[in-house]
Amino acid sequence: MEIRPETIHDHPAVARVNLRAFGGMGEPMLVALLRQRQSYDPDLSLVAEQDGNIVGHALFTRCTIRLMGEDVPAAYLAPIGVDPACQRQGVGTALMQEGHRIAAAKGCHVCFLLGHTSYYPRFGYHTGAFGAAEMNVAVSALAAPEAPLEARPPEEHDLSTLCAFCRSEHADVDFSLHPENTLFDWLSPDPRVYARVYVRDGAPVGYARYRRSAKTRVICFLAADAAAAQAMAVQLAEHAPEITLPMHPRSKSAPVFGLQGATLDAWDAGMACALQPGALDAYFAALSAGRVPGAVVWPPVFDPL
Ligand SMILES: CC(C)(COP(=O)(O)OP(=O)(O)OC[C@H]1O[C@@H](n2cnc3c(N)ncnc32)[C@H](O)[C@@H]1OP(=O)(O)O)[C@@H](O)C(=O)NCCC(=O)NCCS
Repeated sequence: MEIRPETIHDHPAVARVNLRAFGGMGEPMLVALLRQRQSYDPDLSLVAEQDGNIVGHALFTRCTIRLMGEDVPAAYLAPIGVDPACQRQGVGTALMQEGHRIAAAKGCHVCFLLGHTSYYPRFGYHTGAFGAAEMNVAVSALAAPEAPLEARPPEEHDLSTLCAFCRSEHADVDFSLHPENTLFDWLSPDPRVYARVYVRDGAPVGYARYRRSAKTRVICFLAADAAAAQAMAVQLAEHAPEITLPMHPRSKSAPVFGLQGATLDAWDAGMACALQPGALDAYFAALSAGRVPGAVVWPPVFDPL
């Protein structure tokens, strides 16, 4: 068996392996979308080839995360799939080991994923590395805006402002991802998900992404200031008494909603592994000492899953 980077000629076989491994189109679509990212690196999209057939695939995507107040070069693994006829023969292990080796050689300090807790720890992953910040907020406590904010889809000229909102909102949130400066990170490929830029006096003051069918369960929420945060939440709630925001207690806007003292549970399935020795030591020591676990807001390519 050979583990090697994929080429464009492998794409149909990679789609077939992921379809067979996962039993649905979600992961083949995810791979196709992740290949469109600026950060896509074919060296980290690995195939396992046996007798001329692609029997496994793993896609590591490079990114930058915040960790303990610093920018850390990292990668996330999504997805990894082995043809069911070839599982339990070491294919997954070979893909993991080669992916880690290449990602480390390219300077990644950490790899993280959501996955089976009985599989990944053997490769050095710690369970409970991060969760999701999903906080309920009572809308009655919020100040209604004098006039509603204009809400419109993001446009190319908004991108640097939106990236700056994200960096500022999540500057102290562990495992928050720096979005890319392309519309791909601000528009959803899922037509059931709306992305909106909120505008006050002609200038963007926030961004939110939410499912059309569940406007009060927001996927991504970034606000420039307290007034914008309150106005956006009231607008998203419409007449609902409560709204669920992805608001980590260490987010800049958390105090606006009284959430700065809140905590959240890390998911067992939220796992991370150090690719450079010691890269996660301070973080896990801080978690043991009571630091609130980090949270990942996945890019819109993950919305359809
Ligand atoms: C998970 C997966 C990639 C592992 O690949 P693989 O080639 O079968 O794995 P390996 O042969 O290297 O390792 C086999 C070991 O993994 C374990 N394993 C396989 N699938 C597992 C799963 N879903 N959960 C937990 N352990 C699993 C086996 O029990 C075996 O353990 P053992 O060595 O203690 O007996 C593969 O089973 C797969 O494609 N599954 C379906 C898709 C999927 O779930 N992907 C991962 C999403 S998080």
